[in-house]
Amino acid sequence: MRMMARLWALAALAVLLVAVPALAETAKVVATVASPAGTLAVRVELDGEGRPAYAITRRGTDIVAPSRLGFLFTDQPKMERGFALAGQSTRTVDETWEQPWGEWRTIANHFNELRVRLKEKAAPVRELPARELDVVFRVYDDGVGFRYEFPDQPQLKTVRIADELTEFAVAGKGEAWWIPGGEWNRYEYLYQHTSPDAVGQAHTPLTIRLADGTHIAVHEAALVDYSAMWLRRVEGTRFKAVLAPGAQGAKVVRAAPFATPWRTLIFADSAGGLYQSHLELNLNEPNTLGDVSWFTPQKFVGVWWEMHLDRSTWSTGRKHGATTANVRRYIDFAAANGIPGVLVEGWNVGWDGQWFGNGNDFDFKKPTPDLDLPGVAAYAKSKGVSIVGHHETGGGVSHYESQLGAALDYAQGLGIGVIKTGYVADAGQVERVDPNGTQLREWHDGQWMARHHLLVVTEAAKRHIAIDSHEPIKDTGLRRTYPNWVAREGARGMEYNAWGEPKNPPNHEATLAFTRMLSGPMDFTPGIVSLRGKGDTPIASTLAKQLALYVVLYSPVQMLADLPENYAKYPDALAFIKAVPVDWSDTRVLNGEIGQYATFARKDRAHNANGGDDWYIGSVGDDQPRTLTVALDFLDAGRDYTAHIYRDGPNADWHTDGHPMTVENRTVHQGDTLTLPLARGGGAAVQLVAGKGR
Ligand code: NOJ
Repeated sequence: MRMMARLWALAALAVLLVAVPALAETAKVVATVASPAGTLAVRVELDGEGRPAYAITRRGTDIVAPSRLGFLFTDQPKMERGFALAGQSTRTVDETWEQPWGEWRTIANHFNELRVRLKEKAAPVRELPARELDVVFRVYDDGVGFRYEFPDQPQLKTVRIADELTEFAVAGKGEAWWIPGGEWNRYEYLYQHTSPDAVGQAHTPLTIRLADGTHIAVHEAALVDYSAMWLRRVEGTRFKAVLAPGAQGAKVVRAAPFATPWRTLIFADSAGGLYQSHLELNLNEPNTLGDVSWFTPQKFVGVWWEMHLDRSTWSTGRKHGATTANVRRYIDFAAANGIPGVLVEGWNVGWDGQWFGNGNDFDFKKPTPDLDLPGVAAYAKSKGVSIVGHHETGGGVSHYESQLGAALDYAQGLGIGVIKTGYVADAGQVERVDPNGTQLREWHDGQWMARHHLLVVTEAAKRHIAIDSHEPIKDTGLRRTYPNWVAREGARGMEYNAWGEPKNPPNHEATLAFTRMLSGPMDFTPGIVSLRGKGDTPIASTLAKQLALYVVLYSPVQMLADLPENYAKYPDALAFIKAVPVDWSDTRVLNGEIGQYATFARKDRAHNANGGDDWYIGSVGDDQPRTLTVALDFLDAGRDYTAHIYRDGPNADWHTDGHPMTVENRTVHQGDTLTLPLARGGGAAVQLVAGKGR
């Protein structure tokens, strides 16, 4: 009898398999929209079962094959099939807007939008009407963003999302650069370079280069009150959204109506083309803070690298780094070199025990007894310098929130305009304590932390303080809406060159340029001119490359991360680092191959004597010596520029000695070419000072 039942079940399954044809075979196109110049087009399909899917063509060919849309819920049936089209509308937007600070001053925002309303043919919940869901596509010539909008409806008042069913079926063979999503070290992994069909579960941006040279970056924009999206490969090159977990079952809980973050795909013919896209910024809401001229992009030094070298400690005692005398030493160095900020880590009570993953001893208003913080802040002010604050939470986020207002008031009172926050705890180990005392463990990129970061950013904005988050949630372009969220870490930074096992490889930065940096500014902390980590170990860089990082890896807050005594040994390098701006009116990627080399040109936005007319070039390589030629097409016609070129010296090689650097000064003009020889682990930096017309 049991055998018979099994046979029947198998037969039924076989019928089902035959009876349910593949999505593409019976799918009917129900709506389409093309980009303004027609480069990209999106079509929305419904298959015979009423399953919605979207597909994207680029120059007439499918680049994203039909990919499913939908949701799983924790408290009602999934939304994924049985849909009919209930309506559609389109509109066009063509505008420009200005960034208060950034890589480009003016951003063009030109897209065609398609909104489709999907309605279930039958209600899955008896006595209630069928459910509805909007999907909105914004189609640009260089990319597509789409998001779901949950209308207000009686059967979905509170939406409890178990997971998203969104797919990205990237067409074709190629290469992928990615870091694992959902692993203990958050975003701090070495980039893997594999075939796309060897990706496991990845964070975004996920960067792919197809065999025909098309570059694709999959990411998200405007991650607000929602869990971050990881991408899990389902089969072949079909990826599926996986939302970061929440501690209470559902990954996202929201009251309708609401919109999800945008799911984004940028398409370009080159790696540089991915970087030049403004899709991420454009898909975020405009500035809600109004005038943010109280934040000035700036460089800073700090009591920092010495701790990572183990020469001093965050904790108090004999080796404590943040003493009054030592902080004054950094203030003197900053003042003498025109550097506006001094970061002080280990300034407060709470570092003495096990703070990693346990921040409950931190007091964000109480300096250690050996630091006269009001005194050093006043000393800094007298020298035209200000303190950069530091709020390391150790992942004790509820504890931090309980002090947040008072901590920010205290910082404001000291004249602190930028605070670096930190969340050092393993992934999934953020401590949340609810008002009723319930202790929960959250993920760094779950909905609860997405909310936390915006609480910090908005509270800081009220006090004219900018935030630079370490161990953050990934960047999704929210600096447009909240321009005081100025930078984040969110990848392996320079600190891995102090103590990493292994350190960052020589091609790390040429990889970051087209992966992590697609999401937004990174506080990488460049400028280790000693080229040495803990125990005098060499780092995979030449001196010229350290200079190039200030141009290639954009941030409006850039550290001079090395010790003052090391800068004294390399005056040429210091001269470039002092001169290089942190705010730009234009950016061009001159060349780049992911993980091999990258050359960026950026135009100064400063309102200085030179009116922001100077250009800077940074070029970083990998472990191969190579010579790059760059055309100076972007310079003003008929104008002299004095080029100060900092390039790898004839014997520079990070394996032996990365320090040899040749400094050459010459006059150049629009149309000239520069030849940049990159050593192993090398780079080049160029300052182009605009002069008078010829
Ligand atoms: C990790 C951060 O990335 C680093 O910059 C900081 O010094 C330590 N946490 C301590 O907060």
